[in-house]
Amino acid sequence: MAILGIDIGGSGIKGALVDAENGELLTERFRIETPQPSTPTAVAEVIKQVVDHFEWKGAVGCTFPAIIRNGVVHSAANVDKSWIGTDAKKLFEAKTGCNVTVINDADAAGIAEMVFGAGRDVPGVVVVLTLGTGIGSALFVDGHLAPNTELGHLEMNGGDAEQQAAESARDREDLGWKAWGKRLNQYFQMVEFLFSPDLFIVGGGISKKHEKFFKYIETRAPLAPATMRNQAGIVGAAMAAHALTHEVGEMDFDTKKIMEFHMEPKGSS
Ligand code: BGC
Repeated sequence: MAILGIDIGGSGIKGALVDAENGELLTERFRIETPQPSTPTAVAEVIKQVVDHFEWKGAVGCTFPAIIRNGVVHSAANVDKSWIGTDAKKLFEAKTGCNVTVINDADAAGIAEMVFGAGRDVPGVVVVLTLGTGIGSALFVDGHLAPNTELGHLEMNGGDAEQQAAESARDREDLGWKAWGKRLNQYFQMVEFLFSPDLFIVGGGISKKHEKFFKYIETRAPLAPATMRNQAGIVGAAMAAHALTHEVGEMDFDTKKIMEFHMEPKGSS
């Protein structure tokens, strides 16, 4: 079943057709720079360009880097503040004419990793952390997602953790691997203390270089680099759209169950 997966990030908006049943990309990724300022109107215009590029009329799964409840945006740490309160699902549907599912970017990446990647068949508590412009998080218990956990905004040293430990902080402050690794160690140990996970999965583009910084993170739980890399968001968004619009077949972890946790009773956004 082909679905158009779109990943909205701070710097780029990327899309590809995905086979939502096996997690494979059916096309090359198509990327457009994220407009600045990243207002709802400007981003919706880019979503339309991605849909048009693929001449797509079917279901679309879309990630967004904020709290998303029932398609509505409830925070805006790294996007234009005018997103707060915007119904992203309705906006993108009106612009494209497609059926659109919108979920948090880290939740999408986590779903893809749990079904097809580093979390496959892993029971118990799994925390997926994505290191990029911000820190995204996805929390799973026996394969079920507790959505919108926002662990990047835990307080650390009196400030926002992601300001100190995201990949963007390493870049901005020109930190060496060891200095950044120490901050990650403090952050991961705090998350471990709060959630006692059985496994951490570490995503974001920088997870390619995990051997440079995993050695500084001294948690009891093992760390696994994400295996879906920069495709995880696109694939997870497509899986979510698929699960919400179709009957899904047998899977190791039932994606539909995962997504049921995400949806709320109608009218309670
Ligand atoms: C946002 C999260 C998002 C994460 C990664 C954070 O600043 O609050 O919603 O998942 O960045 O993009």
